[in-house]
Amino acid sequence: MLLKNKVIFLTGGTEGIGFECAKIYRAAGAKLSIISNSAPSIEAARLKLQSDEILYLNADVASATDVQQAIIKTVSYFGKIDVIHNNAGISNPSKALHETTEDEWNALFNVNVKGIFNTTRFGIDELKKTRGNILNTGSLVGDIGQEIHAAYSATKGAINTLTKSMALDYAPYGIRVNAVAPAGVWTPMLRVWSKQQPDANSIESYLDDIHALGYCPEGDVVADVCLFLISDQARFVTGCILPVTGGAELGYRRVVNQTIQSIPQKNNLI
Ligand SMILES: NC(=O)c1ccc[n+]([C@@H]2O[C@H](COP(=O)([O-])OP(=O)(O)OC[C@H]3O[C@@H](n4cnc5c(N)ncnc54)[C@H](O)[C@@H]3O)[C@@H](O)[C@H]2O)c1
Repeated sequence: MLLKNKVIFLTGGTEGIGFECAKIYRAAGAKLSIISNSAPSIEAARLKLQSDEILYLNADVASATDVQQAIIKTVSYFGKIDVIHNNAGISNPSKALHETTEDEWNALFNVNVKGIFNTTRFGIDELKKTRGNILNTGSLVGDIGQEIHAAYSATKGAINTLTKSMALDYAPYGIRVNAVAPAGVWTPMLRVWSKQQPDANSIESYLDDIHALGYCPEGDVVADVCLFLISDQARFVTGCILPVTGGAELGYRRVVNQTIQSIPQKNNLI
């Protein structure tokens, strides 16, 4: 019961990685305020999780008013907030930068980055009272980039630097700020992205291959790491962007897998 009596404000907790986090946080004894802007996914999660200790709030993390109200409702329902887990995110569109529309750019930054701004500015006073912590769901692509996904990658790069800057600003209050950085994880988001790829038929084996451990996981592998980072087990960890990638970022895998046949021996990187 690593989270006994802790109150977690979890954005995007109705599907994918966030839903797996909701399950494991509840099992660890936490009370949850789950935020999503999708009423059908809230109802589906409510049916699956079946718990009196979960408050569901239909709110858009990009909206200052929505987030402020969600924080107020959480505190009035549970009395406090110990953890803010900024997990809600969108990944559309899968495009190079010059093909990305201004609306698409704005939507990505408003949800993925401004969402963190909103939960922090309206939630930080509550975390100061509990000496709580913040967890951001980043992505490996925020560090290494990704082809035909420029704007999304940029939001995740912003989350990496935000995580470190916030860790410094809030350390004097005993508030830790960390991030998890997955590579691929099978969720509704990844299924949509997969359909948008030029070679959608081979995408499953591609996603298995990019992970050194040989498979593309489900959200439970990320949720287990999130549980550690928000718990007191990680009480001296802050500003950490923890890869949960099965080694996807290691070595010269792309060179080995795709282009070694065509590289003359003298130029071979390996
Ligand atoms: N799936 C992957 O391969 C992968 C890899 C790296 C990082 N991530 C990151 O993990 C996080 C979760 O991704 P996922 O794959 O589980 O996505 P998902 O689409 O399966 O679930 C997203 C969740 O966020 C909620 N949400 C979306 N926009 C919202 C908004 N404006 N306001 C409130 N809630 C909103 C949805 O209702 C849903 O509960 C995202 O930040 C994503 O960038 C995912």
